[in-house]
Amino acid sequence: MNIDILNKPIVFVGMMGCGKSYIGQALAKDLGINFYDSDKLIEEQEGKSISRIFAESGEKKFRNIEKDVILDLLDKSMLCVISTGGGAVTSFEVLDSIKNKSISIWLQSDVNSIYSRLIGDKTRPLLQCDDPISQLKKLLDKRYDLYSKADLIVKNDSSFENVVSDIKLKLYKFLEGDF
Ligand code: S3P
Repeated sequence: MNIDILNKPIVFVGMMGCGKSYIGQALAKDLGINFYDSDKLIEEQEGKSISRIFAESGEKKFRNIEKDVILDLLDKSMLCVISTGGGAVTSFEVLDSIKNKSISIWLQSDVNSIYSRLIGDKTRPLLQCDDPISQLKKLLDKRYDLYSKADLIVKNDSSFENVVSDIKLKLYKFLEGDF
């Protein structure tokens, strides 16, 4: 894909553990543009982990910080790839800004694959419960319609090279107005 055709940042949305950061980073490297991970930026800005923010200040406060970080990134309107936290789209303002200022990609992965990637993970506060699979299913149900608003949908179900090629093909068609 010729990078010149890209006129907006690319934003990944989707469930935690679906591979947004891994694939996002690979795509950014391939396109030769910067990569930002909203969770990492939040941790750097606040000087503490996401888990600590949830524990000390609660989810509502986390969502406010998350909103500010993502809106700020999108306001800078640079060519880059951004990976957002799984719940970022639950904010109307964030979703609206993603829709208006970026090309969005819902990276899909089924719940069982997500679970196998996240077994033993202690960094996702929303999964520290007795039944993480049911929790993942519940969250996906609640967020499905929001993720569906993305411009492109790509399944993360093969090697990262294949997924990145698939994304580039879909991006190209989208930008050519052929989607
Ligand atoms: C969350 C997903 C996490 C992180 C936080 C909340 C969610 O990000 O923002 O734990 O609500 O789904 P990843 O999607 O990068 O894991």
